Amino acid sequence: MFERYEQLKKILGVDYPILLAPMDLVAGGRLAAAVTDAGGFGIIGGGYGDETWLREQFAAAHGARIGVGFITWSLSRQPHLIDVCIEHSPAAIMFSFGDASKHIERVKKAGILAICQVQTAAMAREAVSQGADIIVAQGAEGGGHGVACGTISLVPTVVDAVGEKVPVVAAGGIADGRGFAASLALGASGIVLGTRMYASEEAIGHDDAKRRIVECTGGEQTIRGILFDIARDNVWPAPYTGRVLRNEFSEKWLGRDLELFQHRAEKTRYSSARENHDYETAAVIAGESAALIHEVSPAKLIVENIVREMDAILGYSLTRKIVR
Ligand SMILES: Cc1cc2nc3c(=O)[nH]c(=O)nc-3n(C[C@H](O)[C@H](O)[C@H](O)COP(=O)(O)O)c2cc1C
Repeated sequence: MFERYEQLKKILGVDYPILLAPMDLVAGGRLAAAVTDAGGFGIIGGGYGDETWLREQFAAAHGARIGVGFITWSLSRQPHLIDVCIEHSPAAIMFSFGDASKHIERVKKAGILAICQVQTAAMAREAVSQGADIIVAQGAEGGGHGVACGTISLVPTVVDAVGEKVPVVAAGGIADGRGFAASLALGASGIVLGTRMYASEEAIGHDDAKRRIVECTGGEQTIRGILFDIARDNVWPAPYTGRVLRNEFSEKWLGRDLELFQHRAEKTRYSSARENHDYETAAVIAGESAALIHEVSPAKLIVENIVREMDAILGYSLTRKIVR
C-alpha cells in the first residue's frame, strides 16, 4: 500500500494523491489551483472542448501545477485543443471515454503525463498498451458519465489487469477519508474526487446545484441513465450512461426515453431550465457520494479533512514516518 501511494505522489509531484475530477464546466482553473495548493492535483474539466473557456481557465489557474481533462470522443473532433494545452504546459492531460491512442503519443512527446480514465479491465489494459502513465478506474457510483461496474470490485480488477508498473487511481463514490482508506486497501494508489469537489466554494457550479448535492441523503436519490442527455440533445456513444440527481423531470420521463427523444417541447423546456438553473427540470450531475456531503466547503478544507480521516483510519502510517 505504502509503495503504491508513494509512487503516485512522486509521479504527480504532490503531497497527497488526491486528484480533482475534470468535471466539464465545473472544475475551472480556480478550483484546480486550489486543489493543487492544498497538496492534491487539480485538473481542469475541459469536457467537450471549448477553446475560449479552456484558455480562460488556464489563466484562472495562475500557473499552478495542474492537469486538464477531456471527453475523448469529443476531443477527437477538435484535436487542435491538445496544442492549446501544450502551450500552457499542464503537468498531465486526462482522457476519458473513447480511444485516446492518437492523443497519448502527442502528449507524451511534449513531456506531459497521460492519465486515462477507464471503466473496465479491458479498457485499462488497452490504455496501458497505448502508453498511459496513470489509470483511473471509475466505478458506476460516480457522478457524470461512465459504465455499469461498481468501484469496489472494479478497482482491484483493474489493479490486477495492469500490474505494478502503472498506478491505478480509484474514482466513483469517494467523498471522505473512509473512501480514501478503502481505495488504498483495494490496491489503488490514490483517489479522484468529483461530486465532493462540485460542492466546494471554488467550483463553477450554481449555488442551487451545490445545495441540492448537500441536501441529498442517499444514493437512491441519484439515477444512472441517458434521459438528461436526450433532453439536452447530447446522446453519447454506447456504452456510456450518466449519473445525476433525481428530480421531477427524471421521475416524469423515467422509462420513456424514446418518447422524450421525439418530444421537441420538452427539450425546449429543459434547455430553458438549464439557463434558469431550475434543477427540478435540469439535471444536477452528481454521484451517490452526494449522500456523504453535508456542506459546501473550500477545496483546501475538503482535502485536509479527507487526509486527516484517512490518516486516522490507517494509523498515520502513510503521511507520517513511523519511528520504531
Ligand atoms: C458534475 C460532473 C461533471 C463531470 N464531467 C466529467 C468530464 O467532463 N470528463 C470526465 O472525464 N469525467 C467527468 N465526470 C466524472 C469524473 O471524472 C469522475 O469519474 C467522477 O466524478 C467520480 O465519482 P464521484 O463523483 O463519486 O467523485 C464528471 C463528474 C461530475 C460529478
